[in-house]
Amino acid sequence: MQTVTPNLGENSYPIWVDAGLLNSIGELLIPQLNGRQICMVTDREVGGRYMAQVRQSLEHEGFNVVEVVIDGGEDNKTLETVNQILTVLLEARLDRSSALLALGGGVVGDMAGFAAAIYLRGIDVVQVPTTILAQADSSVGGKTGVNHPVGKNLIGAFHQPTAVVIDTDTLKTLPDREIRSGLAEVIKHGIIRDEVFFQQLETDIPQLLSGSLPDNDLVSMTAHNCRIKADVVSIDEKEKGLRAILNYGHTVGHAIEALTEYKRYRHGEAVLFGMQGAGRLGVRLGSWSKADEARQNQLIQQLLTVDPPTDLDADAIANRTRSDKKVRSGQLRFVLPKRIGEVEIVDKVKDSDIVDAWKSVFG
Ligand SMILES: NC(=O)c1ccc[n+]([C@@H]2O[C@H](COP(=O)([O-])OP(=O)(O)OC[C@H]3O[C@@H](n4cnc5c(N)ncnc54)[C@H](O)[C@@H]3O)[C@@H](O)[C@H]2O)c1
Ligand SMILES: [Zn+2]
Repeated sequence: MQTVTPNLGENSYPIWVDAGLLNSIGELLIPQLNGRQICMVTDREVGGRYMAQVRQSLEHEGFNVVEVVIDGGEDNKTLETVNQILTVLLEARLDRSSALLALGGGVVGDMAGFAAAIYLRGIDVVQVPTTILAQADSSVGGKTGVNHPVGKNLIGAFHQPTAVVIDTDTLKTLPDREIRSGLAEVIKHGIIRDEVFFQQLETDIPQLLSGSLPDNDLVSMTAHNCRIKADVVSIDEKEKGLRAILNYGHTVGHAIEALTEYKRYRHGEAVLFGMQGAGRLGVRLGSWSKADEARQNQLIQQLLTVDPPTDLDADAIANRTRSDKKVRSGQLRFVLPKRIGEVEIVDKVKDSDIVDAWKSVFG
């Protein structure tokens, strides 16, 4: 088992990573939680596969387990679903010493985390992520929340988990498209922070896709992802500065998602295209080399099984990135690569640069 501990002072928590960890989740949590009441939140898909295994381990250690099975999917990441979770907590009269356990992907994690942040003004939440995206990204960092008809992820709270339990065996049932799109965030971590990790991914990702990556290597990859995300987040817990580098590939990616109404691509797929766009922008503005761009894109190409967004209008993309950034910070900021392992935040990117870069990648 590998343990990663974000450097967050009294807000810190252990992230445990291993194959088969769901079988010992009860033992792991005993010293971590104040009470013995747990409400497990999951979606139908994940619940059907893993809920019984988790319940068994928890009950074996004397936990009293309440369950909420929600409808999964981004469309259900709403205040209504959070309210459904809160109703179960209230009816079961869970007190302040109880905890929520989020078993599932980022949708479940974000909602259970938010419910935990507001129930009785805040109770513990244990994140048990079961997608690559959630294991590499959303379960670490403490951002929780829901979508609103006016915009995605605008309602929420920062609420750090009490522990994160990652069983890499759960990835064995994850659909191929979810694996590929989740790996976008993994590649992103290599580009923004860690060249040696990126180099390891050049070996590990083809093996993972063909099903031949040894368990130990998957555990190491997963733990290292958490280390990178935790490292960035612990330097900048409330998203004031450095944390912005996690948006590499996301400015263009979000524009692609919005212009295709969040239906055509998985988030990670849009980010893969977004990293191609940001990479080209970097080359055109002279901040990174064609060789590094080629290396990045070589890995990205292995993950893409969907058609590129060649039908989207370059001006519309540029426009959309501007409004995205305005909402966020009131100023134009773009994460551009300098070399594999290092990015910079640039505020002088012009619309015409974005248009040119888009056209040269997506025609
Ligand atoms: N809080 C953060 O910092 C943060 C960061 C990035 C993304 N997010 C959020 O994460 C969400 C996306 O998360 P996601 O990509 O994990 O999607 P998801 O939670 O919708 O999961 C994808 C699908 O895979 C299924 N699934 C999950 N685990 C499985 C398993 N082990 N085996 C079989 N099927 C499984 C789910 O039921 C679902 O249908 C978005 O809402 C996004 O906003 C949050
Ligand atoms: Zn992302």
